[in-house]
Amino acid sequence: MTAPLIRIERLSKRFQSGGGLLARPRTMLAVREVSLTIARGEALGVVGESGCGKSTLARLILRLIEPTEGRVSFDGTDITALPPAALRRMRSRMAMVFQDPYSSLDPRHSLSQVLAEPFQIQGETLPPGMVADLLAQVGLPEGLADSHPHQLSGGQRQRVGIARALALRPDFLVLDEPTASLDVSIQAQIIALLADLRARLGLTCLFISHDLGLVRYFCDRIVVMYLGSVVEVLPDPAARPRHPYSQALMEARFAPDPAQRKELAPLTGEIPSPFALPPGCAFASRCPRATDRCRREVPLLSADPGHPVACFHPL
Ligand SMILES: Nc1ncnc2c1ncn2[C@@H]1O[C@H](COP(=O)(O)OP(=O)(O)OP(=O)(O)O)[C@@H](O)[C@H]1O
Ligand SMILES: [Mg+2]
Repeated sequence: MTAPLIRIERLSKRFQSGGGLLARPRTMLAVREVSLTIARGEALGVVGESGCGKSTLARLILRLIEPTEGRVSFDGTDITALPPAALRRMRSRMAMVFQDPYSSLDPRHSLSQVLAEPFQIQGETLPPGMVADLLAQVGLPEGLADSHPHQLSGGQRQRVGIARALALRPDFLVLDEPTASLDVSIQAQIIALLADLRARLGLTCLFISHDLGLVRYFCDRIVVMYLGSVVEVLPDPAARPRHPYSQALMEARFAPDPAQRKELAPLTGEIPSPFALPPGCAFASRCPRATDRCRREVPLLSADPGHPVACFHPL
């Protein structure tokens, strides 16, 4: 077996909020001792309700934010310890596609300028013909090179976001809800494009989504997060969930309407505040299988490498 492209060890991120003259700041762990590997060429999915730490995990892996604890290795190099210049070079091998292509593309820049940026950041000049190549790769005509983002449709803008991410030929692509802002019909086209690029370019991907259908279509393995912790790793997209939370997510199928997302059908009970997690399992307050032990002891991710699950009473 070859070494994984990415190795994450006990990664945690603490955020502070509030605080002032009279109040002490409150702290919470948005990501809590997460350990994972991503194999070369693998697409790893991350699912979980809003606020469970998916984007924070992605930003930590790219070291766009600094971890509170833990390490991330990329192709054998600990990037959490790299000085800025070396980190910048390493970053050319990683890229991110954001949820909202409108806010992630500078409206003042033409598409040529947008696609030249990654090269400028690396202190390189844009290779001749590169803009046309990148546009072609994402199915856009070369004639759009002088257009500005506001002249494009949502789907076209996201194609530009993908082209920019591919500019430096990265090995690793983070897709953070890449189609969440698009109409359903356009979503399917963008996902098909991403799947095609992934296969053609041999990309390793981290795919974050609320949409379990998309994650199952796109990914080889699926990580389920709850309040900052990984509670289960599904070894393949069709695997039956063993954690009661993953099971509930499957049943709710991640309601497409954000207003309904909080109401996972079979779950009752309060979601604890991330600033004041109870002792024991963070999911116990909503779990139909919870016992006294669950309210006392924190279940660790099981040692079963085939199908890790953090639960005392798995299905
Ligand atoms: N810069 C920050 N400062 C303080 N708290 C933050 C910061 N970024 C994120 N958080 C908090 O960390 C938690 C995890 O946020 P994150 O954005 O990672 O969730 P998410 O799973 O990506 O959610 P969504 O599905 O809504 O995108 C949330 O409670 C959020 O409020
Ligand atoms: Mg997010």
